[in-house]
Amino acid sequence: MTSTPRPHVCPWWMGYVIDHPLRRLLQPPEPLLRSYVQSGQTAADLGCGMGYYTLALARLVGLAGRVYAVDLQPQMLKALRRRARRRGLLERIELVQCRADRLGLTAPVDFALAANVIHETPDPGAFLRQVREILKPEARFLALEPRGHVPQADFAATLQRAREAGLILQSQSEFRGGRAALLTAG
Ligand SMILES: C[S@@+](CC[C@H](N)C(=O)[O-])C[C@H]1O[C@@H](n2cnc3c(N)ncnc32)[C@H](O)[C@@H]1O
Repeated sequence: MTSTPRPHVCPWWMGYVIDHPLRRLLQPPEPLLRSYVQSGQTAADLGCGMGYYTLALARLVGLAGRVYAVDLQPQMLKALRRRARRRGLLERIELVQCRADRLGLTAPVDFALAANVIHETPDPGAFLRQVREILKPEARFLALEPRGHVPQADFAATLQRAREAGLILQSQSEFRGGRAALLTAG
């Protein structure tokens, strides 16, 4: 009998490896996110890891804003908590430990980010439907996937699932090491 293989989930200790100073040079998070997030808004970082993008989002939403940092692995959230506290950003961040098949987030957001995570989820279609549910009417959703792990055809399949989930593709691009798509709720 054959069964569907479970997708590989980035082990928690890799969080330290992927969040290194060279990445900050090659893929600086704030310039990427600045045009999508404004002060006072609510954002969600889905599959946040140790917070490479969460900390940038927390700076961008400012004191009056809020960031939901959602991840499967408690070790990722623990490291993020420590790093956010050290930078004085913890008050703006709500840490949410989710299940592989359930984000567990109901609060509506102005912006959602899924960076390097969709290919790790057991059911990308279900994940994208949950993303659609938390977006405010004017909200934007940025999906980033690593080129190394996600060939063009797989990214196209993800975008098709996003359409089926009710998301509307606004633009698509490639950047150093990755593929990006900006989507809206409709
Ligand atoms: C490759 S890391 C990326 C972390 C971060 N977004 C970044 O770009 O630095 C993928 C993260 O997604 C999380 N993850 C995997 N499957 C998930 C799921 N079904 N729901 C939420 N998070 C998940 C993993 O625990 C891991 O922290």
